[in-house]
Amino acid sequence: MSLTWFGSPVLGIETSCDETSVAVVRDSHVLSNVVSSQIDLHRRWGGVVPEAASRAHVEAILPMLQQGLSESGLEMGAIGAVAVTNRPGLVGALSVGVSAAKAISVAQGIPLIGVHHLEGHLLSVLADEASVEFPHISLIVSGGHTEVVLVRAPGDYDILAATLDDAAGEAFDKSARLLGLGNPGGYHIQELARSGNPKRYSLPIGVKDDLRHFSFSGLKTAVMRMVQSEGEGLSSADMAASIQHAIVEALIPKVLAAVLSTSCRAVSVVGGVSANVRLRERLREECDREGIALYCPAPAMSTDNAAMIALAGSLKLGAGARSGFDLDVYSGCLLV
Ligand code: KG4
Ligand code: ZN
Repeated sequence: MSLTWFGSPVLGIETSCDETSVAVVRDSHVLSNVVSSQIDLHRRWGGVVPEAASRAHVEAILPMLQQGLSESGLEMGAIGAVAVTNRPGLVGALSVGVSAAKAISVAQGIPLIGVHHLEGHLLSVLADEASVEFPHISLIVSGGHTEVVLVRAPGDYDILAATLDDAAGEAFDKSARLLGLGNPGGYHIQELARSGNPKRYSLPIGVKDDLRHFSFSGLKTAVMRMVQSEGEGLSSADMAASIQHAIVEALIPKVLAAVLSTSCRAVSVVGGVSANVRLRERLREECDREGIALYCPAPAMSTDNAAMIALAGSLKLGAGARSGFDLDVYSGCLLV
């Protein structure tokens, strides 16, 4: 499928949660992608505090804009449009990015486009990639989302499976907290799991027979009970490996079921949890067995970043879409 890009450089802004990110893309080429993380700020509270997140975005947005532009090698005058995440996310945090994007749009006299955060994740596989096959099945796994999506083309999506409760990233993060690990929980579990035995602790794989749904809330309860009952005898490495195994093996069958129920011959995995090495290995094994292509974004493209927003924006602008200055922000908003 040939994609219609905007053509001129697009500036992307992402502030939906705890990362302030700015990027410049030209068509599928990422010219810059800078991220300022608030992870250290929120550590003391054990989770993202919305008010603190908004204030940190206010502080970081202009330095990030300067750095993103400077690393792209372009002046503001060369930017043809501005794309910004406007949904879903923390309303105060989103407002910082959207206000900055509107100001740039007015000052430069260039088009503005609002982008759904998940559409950014879905299209992150297009970064610096010459050919991505459409349609394909995408597994979105992040801190807030776990969905299997039929991606017919950019902008044309169907959700084939979704979580009934916690997201896969949330399951990693909550389990990591029970093990006394820091943020991002998924990364720390992955590292600890390297020396662990995934068969040591038997943890539930939720709604196994229901191919349209995931459920991860039982996992954290099971981890909590086991941590309490094992006490001093707990092997953190074995527990981390068992948690990772339970999450990964809950995801794989539903991706394969989606492939079988459609004519797709390609799969992508996107979102923060897609950085997980074991998940990538298992998907690679299964896709090789089925003879289908697997697209994994570079790790920097997996977690929240503005390049994916600029890519999605460039395609929307290429299709003729524009946002007005009444562009609003939304905390919850379905992809389709
Ligand atoms: O996409 P993302 O950066 O932010 C959201 O939109 O939510 O995803 C964040 C999630 C967190 O739950 C974090 O623990 C998880 O991605 N994560 C990982 C890894 N790196 C980040 N999970 C498993 N393995 C990793 N290596
Ligand atoms: Zn995300």
